[in-house]
Amino acid sequence: MEENGRIVGSNFRQEDMEHENHLRPRWMDEYIGQDSAKEKLKIFIEAAKMRKEALDHVLLHGPPGLGKTTLAHIIANEMGVDIRVTSGPAIEKPSDLASILTNLKKDDVLFIDEIHRMNRSVEEILYPAMEDYALDIIVGKGPGARSLRIDLEHFTLIGATTRSGQLTSPLRDRFGVLLNLQLYDVKDLTRIITRSSQILGMDIDREGAQEIARRSRGTPRIANRLLKRVRDYAMVVGEGFIDHDTAQYGLDLLEIDPLGLDHLDRRILNTLISHYGGGPVGIDTISASVGEERITIEDMYEPYLLQIGFIGRTARGRVATRRAYEHLGINYDENFNNR
Ligand SMILES: Nc1ncnc2c1ncn2[C@@H]1O[C@H](COP(=O)(O)OP(=O)(O)O)[C@@H](O)[C@H]1O
Ligand SMILES: [Mg+2]
Repeated sequence: MEENGRIVGSNFRQEDMEHENHLRPRWMDEYIGQDSAKEKLKIFIEAAKMRKEALDHVLLHGPPGLGKTTLAHIIANEMGVDIRVTSGPAIEKPSDLASILTNLKKDDVLFIDEIHRMNRSVEEILYPAMEDYALDIIVGKGPGARSLRIDLEHFTLIGATTRSGQLTSPLRDRFGVLLNLQLYDVKDLTRIITRSSQILGMDIDREGAQEIARRSRGTPRIANRLLKRVRDYAMVVGEGFIDHDTAQYGLDLLEIDPLGLDHLDRRILNTLISHYGGGPVGIDTISASVGEERITIEDMYEPYLLQIGFIGRTARGRVATRRAYEHLGINYDENFNNR
């Protein structure tokens, strides 16, 4: 899959590992942007601490790389509790989850990443655990089998998902706090890049940070990755200082255009425009034409193309907007494209 080789892909890559850990904000005040999510969380955390209770279960939803894992750790830090991290696909059997749950201490956070990918039999263990802090297990086999209820410590479940639509409603309904993370604007990304530069000991000016921010597709993970690439470039061609021109040349070299689009974004837009007259085109058709999975297009490409107003969604499929035509240098015919 091409997504894995993509510099502006928002999925976690091995190269992110070394720096993500120390670039990751640890406290709410270091977490830049997402004001509405932060505002709500601060109040809930404060209230839970005043009542000396576990925080209500939290569901974090948003595209990859926007700070869901980061926020889960911050919540645990701010609550002053331990966090146990796992993911939907990693929990294979109900008994795996049961043993995780019985090992949680009072008020601990259990973070389940990609919670939409949890299998159904595992998920059912979570219902009584979330609602009554209890575990229902069956002891014995056949006619002698009986159900046993085990009490659990009060804990906070934090679930993260890129696709909240795939969550079953019994699971979704058991979260008290639902937070939607949004793509970041250039202002917030500039702050994130400036902060990361400081931590990594890099020399960058405001224009340099802004230029990287503009090409980061609203995503902090991509911003940090581009910053690293530009630093390498700056070290090789200059003194290591990143200003506007260094950032621009470095990013041009990586074939990331001024809006952060790469060849795959352009292929999606070109397919829409050149092959289908600007749409509407169904997502499956786009997916087949560009040779990328539908889910990848929906999770990684579409959110940003929608945010910058290059495509629109209609009941009959996706359409390319006048802006997309202009960006690609294709003539937009008012009469022909009268949508
Ligand atoms: N609000 C933020 N402020 C500063 N840096 C952030 C923020 N959100 C994310 N990051 C950076 O982006 C990286 C990816 O975030 P992460 O929490 O792993 O995303 P997700 O879990 O949503 O895929 C983190 O390592 C962190 O350095
Ligand atoms: Mg994550």
